[in-house]
Amino acid sequence: MKKNLLMWDETLFRDPEVLEIDYVPEQFEFRDAQMRELAFQIRPGLRGGRPLNTICKGLPGTGKTTSIRKLFAEIEESTKKLVPVYINCQIDNTKFAIISQIYRKLVGHLPPSSGTSFKQVFDAVARILIKDEIVLLVALDDANYLLYENEINKVLYTLLRSHESYEGTRIGVIVIVSDLDVDLTRAIDARVASVFRPAEIYFPPYENAEIHEIMKARAMQGLFQGVLSEEMLDLVVGQTLKSGDLRVGIDLLKRATLTAEHAARRSIGREDICGAYEVSKYLHLSYTIKTLKDEERQILNSFARRAAQEHEMNAGEVYKSIKESLSIGYTRFYEIIKKMDAMRLINLEYREGKGRTRIITLRYDPAKILEYLA
Ligand SMILES: Nc1ncnc2c1ncn2[C@@H]1O[C@H](COP(=O)(O)OP(=O)(O)OP(=O)(O)O)[C@@H](O)[C@H]1O
Ligand SMILES: [Mg+2]
Repeated sequence: MKKNLLMWDETLFRDPEVLEIDYVPEQFEFRDAQMRELAFQIRPGLRGGRPLNTICKGLPGTGKTTSIRKLFAEIEESTKKLVPVYINCQIDNTKFAIISQIYRKLVGHLPPSSGTSFKQVFDAVARILIKDEIVLLVALDDANYLLYENEINKVLYTLLRSHESYEGTRIGVIVIVSDLDVDLTRAIDARVASVFRPAEIYFPPYENAEIHEIMKARAMQGLFQGVLSEEMLDLVVGQTLKSGDLRVGIDLLKRATLTAEHAARRSIGREDICGAYEVSKYLHLSYTIKTLKDEERQILNSFARRAAQEHEMNAGEVYKSIKESLSIGYTRFYEIIKKMDAMRLINLEYREGKGRTRIITLRYDPAKILEYLA
């Protein structure tokens, strides 16, 4: 074998962990202002008071989750009296699922899943908070997933008015949303609004130079020297900007490296990056499809098949065509399409016509949707 060919166990990754999308980077620049504001909101909780409520808002890949994770890690290092609980609402998106995660944080394991009521779990949580004098800080990440079925109000109501049923409990909430079209204040009931009163922290998109610096730092930390040339780094940055999501860039870098490695090259080439981009740009689609329930997958499937013929679909007509095979009511169907809109899989628009018509268009190429559904 020629000497410059890589052996099977030789790698281009110095530290593969660094290019995983859930990796919390040590070096975290350009979000100082947001981190300071968040710290300000949280601070009362460190002195036994209720943390101020906050909404973090910004497009995907602007560092919202990372900021929260870093601050939460810091809190956990410094005190046991303020307990931060991180909830991923893509996964836990009901009142029961969320209180169960809080319970798990305090007790160490989930409550029994069958035969336990919401109230029983909340009772247990409140007892611990009062007995151990613990203040709770709950981050609801990707809270747009709580918008359908009005779950957001149920969750916020129980958390923020807990002191009314359980005297002495103190809970603050951080709500994180990435869909700028979502107007949370409009989705929230008056009885929740009166106790929520959040400050809003905005996470602006990174600028070109910032993306460049972040990607460069990742590459230097994650890959061996010489694997990614300056020219190829520029290309990665260009693709990242095109997608508008830093996460796509990180995934892209990982895939391009794997391809180069597989081809036994010592550095990443243009074709590795372009090939990887074709997969990475669907990161959001592939991730969200994985979180869908069976019924929802079937509905998305019928949208994708139909969209091949008609770009704009009338929600009522689609419903008529699938209601027999799926046997669901229109209300449920409508909840599901609202959820898909919140998930940025489809666009849901209202049009005035004969009554109010609901128009559905897909945010992705139907063929790609079918591919990922399969
Ligand atoms: N300032 C930064 N420095 C280094 N890495 C960053 C920075 N901001 C974000 N990242 C990285 O980019 C990716 C996306 O960041 P993060 O998950 O925090 O974004 P987000 O705002 O929560 O996005 P979404 O709304 O899609 O959940 C992560 O892998 C994170 O490590
Ligand atoms: Mg996030």
